Amino acid sequence: MRKIEIFDTTLRDGEQSAGINLNTAEKLEIAKQLERFGASIIEAGFPASSPGDFEAVQRIAGTVKNSIVTGLARAIKKDIDITWDALKKAEQPHIHVFLATSPIHMQYKLNKTPDQVVEAAVEAVKYAKNTFPLVQWSAEDAFRSDRDFLVRIINEVIKAGATTINIPDTVGYASPAEYGALFKYLRENVTGSDKVNFSAHCHDDLGMAVANSIAAIENGANQVEGTINGIGERAGNAALEEIAVAMHIRKDIYGIETGINLQEIKRTSQLVSKLTGVVIQPNKAIVGKNAFAHESGIHQDGMLKNPETYEIITPALIGESAVPLVLGKHSGRHAFKDRAETMGFDLSDDKINRAFAEFKKLADRKKEITEEDLLTLLTDQQIQY
Ligand code: KIV
Ligand code: ZN
Repeated sequence: MRKIEIFDTTLRDGEQSAGINLNTAEKLEIAKQLERFGASIIEAGFPASSPGDFEAVQRIAGTVKNSIVTGLARAIKKDIDITWDALKKAEQPHIHVFLATSPIHMQYKLNKTPDQVVEAAVEAVKYAKNTFPLVQWSAEDAFRSDRDFLVRIINEVIKAGATTINIPDTVGYASPAEYGALFKYLRENVTGSDKVNFSAHCHDDLGMAVANSIAAIENGANQVEGTINGIGERAGNAALEEIAVAMHIRKDIYGIETGINLQEIKRTSQLVSKLTGVVIQPNKAIVGKNAFAHESGIHQDGMLKNPETYEIITPALIGESAVPLVLGKHSGRHAFKDRAETMGFDLSDDKINRAFAEFKKLADRKKEITEEDLLTLLTDQQIQY
């Protein structure tokens, strides 16, 4: 099976979400969990951005052994030197250098001509290569860059020593077909493209980050970047747990191995939510509170007959304990009777019918029916002759 490297940037791009600020101890705890989760590469921070980030990256590099640890750097010598100081004790020092390549970023943000951008990128990669064995270079805003300019600059940074080329959709503008086509074009036109890794890095501004990452995989990317729970700048990054589970459940069409320990998904998601303070939306795929909750009578009836009628993923797959059927106003008699039996009630059909009628009235008034509500309803019937 083809292997895709999972590059986790929860601690860098994820931490760039408005309102998140993790201290070193919290970052270290998340990094250790990401190692158990099976991330190939952990981007631990941006060492030149603050002394706190430097310290966190250094601690993580000295602790994590089973994932490669990296740090982000602008394409300037000062950033590369600071990143080396933070990462020199890592098992396999890896640096992630970036420089923007789109016309709008080159003109307004960098105030550089395309030729000057090529020169700066090459100089930075060569400089990084003096110390780091693994150098990832990112063409920031790659998706909105001129394709032939991308080919030119990528050819040059590969000659300078880059080992991974990242093609970010920095502003989440791409559609899956377009993003996939860009990877195909680069794979076909970059010299020696089979000697380096191509990485996808997608933002979710149009809600397509995961779909775009998968389109990149289908078109030759062998690394995908993202975050746990999809946290990140603005609308966030591609959610890694969604990519990992999609690759597992649809092995039949993708034939991809991610190396992710799926059993660690729930724990990782909850830890990141707890420490960042970012609440997971209830209907979030894979890790949302409702991802395995069946409420309607028809679905509950199907689930009781055969869970595969409505469940393509089991909670157990992601390390979550079984989720009981939610009893609410849409629930049917079958689910109600099943829960009564689980709670130890052995009631006649008549009593179940009466309890069920009372339950429906209550469910119309109350949003959530608790275990105590059920106990009261069922006990009332049990003691009536
Ligand atoms: O979205 C982006 O372009 C980035 C780069 C720094 C890789 O996060
Ligand atoms: Zn990003």
